[in-house]
Amino acid sequence: MKAIVLQQTGGVENLVIKEVPVPAIKDNEVLIQNKAIAINPVDAFVRGNAGALQGIVRPAEGADIILGWDIAGEVVATGKDVKDFKTGDAVFGMVNFPGQGSAYAEYVAAPADHVALKPANTTYEKAAAASLAALTAWQALVVHGQVKKGDKVLIHAAAGGVGHYAVQIAKHFGAYVIGTASAAKKEGVLSFGANEYIDYNQQPFESLVTDADIVLDSLGIPGHLERSLSAVKNNGRLISLLVFPDDAFKQQAAAKNVYVHRLTVNSDGKDISSIASLLEQGALHSDIAETFPFEEMGKAHEKVAGGKTQGKIVVNV
Ligand SMILES: NC(=O)c1ccc[n+]([C@@H]2O[C@H](COP(=O)([O-])OP(=O)(O)OC[C@H]3O[C@@H](n4cnc5c(N)ncnc54)[C@H](OP(=O)(O)O)[C@@H]3O)[C@@H](O)[C@H]2O)c1
Repeated sequence: MKAIVLQQTGGVENLVIKEVPVPAIKDNEVLIQNKAIAINPVDAFVRGNAGALQGIVRPAEGADIILGWDIAGEVVATGKDVKDFKTGDAVFGMVNFPGQGSAYAEYVAAPADHVALKPANTTYEKAAAASLAALTAWQALVVHGQVKKGDKVLIHAAAGGVGHYAVQIAKHFGAYVIGTASAAKKEGVLSFGANEYIDYNQQPFESLVTDADIVLDSLGIPGHLERSLSAVKNNGRLISLLVFPDDAFKQQAAAKNVYVHRLTVNSDGKDISSIASLLEQGALHSDIAETFPFEEMGKAHEKVAGGKTQGKIVVNV
């Protein structure tokens, strides 16, 4: 089969198409003929950073390094312990995160728990898109944020991959949603369902929001998490996707009795079934910014690494 192999960490020229064996499946896995791959900032991060590659992907010694986690495709074989899927099923999900998902390939071996049936109303591209980014939004807001009706939720980078799903999920639970983005993405943020939009270039968000029940902070800007803490009300919740809070920060949060959690999204726990259900109900939509052919994976990486995406970048297999 064709796969995109990372020859060494560095620029996109190190992503090379190669013939490799179709992966063997374990008893709890399905073999998926891959049709679409979604690209996330972490894909570009591990491609260019040896420490991150070892820490997040943990590639097997001596084996080809195949990156990527988000897939959608058709089941072509099932392990003997798999009960929920059969050959011919259309599925999608985030495979083995953190770990090696090996998504940049024509065939992917995935634990059955990491995928869900693709709703008929959702294309392969839009289903692949709604994997890592949508699961991050779900685990941030629902699992750790415990979002509920009437909550005020501040979502940073509300037009991005995670952000646009987070706005929709918070709205689905009946929250009042405020999203930050640059002026070019105002319409996008409001179209995803946000009640209010803040142009982060024009106004400091913490001067406008001081009583959020939940803040989702996905930015690595120094001091940003502290500013987000001042936007959370006492007893609220602050979920960080990038910055690890240090002891001084934890003390500041404790003084307000704010729950702080630095999330690492995880494939386990069947949350992908919740995402499938939202897609099926029409409560969640993937906004696809751009699609690329398999041969142009490098361009997809460059695009996502630019950090200006509205919605998701997808590569067709
Ligand atoms: N810990 C985890 O498990 C986890 C999981 C998923 C993602 N992440 C991280 O979370 C971050 C977001 O991921 P993503 O997939 O959503 O990325 P993305 O799709 O590349 O996000 C791009 C968005 O960020 C916005 N943005 C940039 N600077 C901003 C600022 N100062 N204020 C508000 N918005 C800003 C951009 O909007 P403008 O063009 O309008 O600026 C753009 O729409 C990434 O760093 C990613 O690595 C972590």
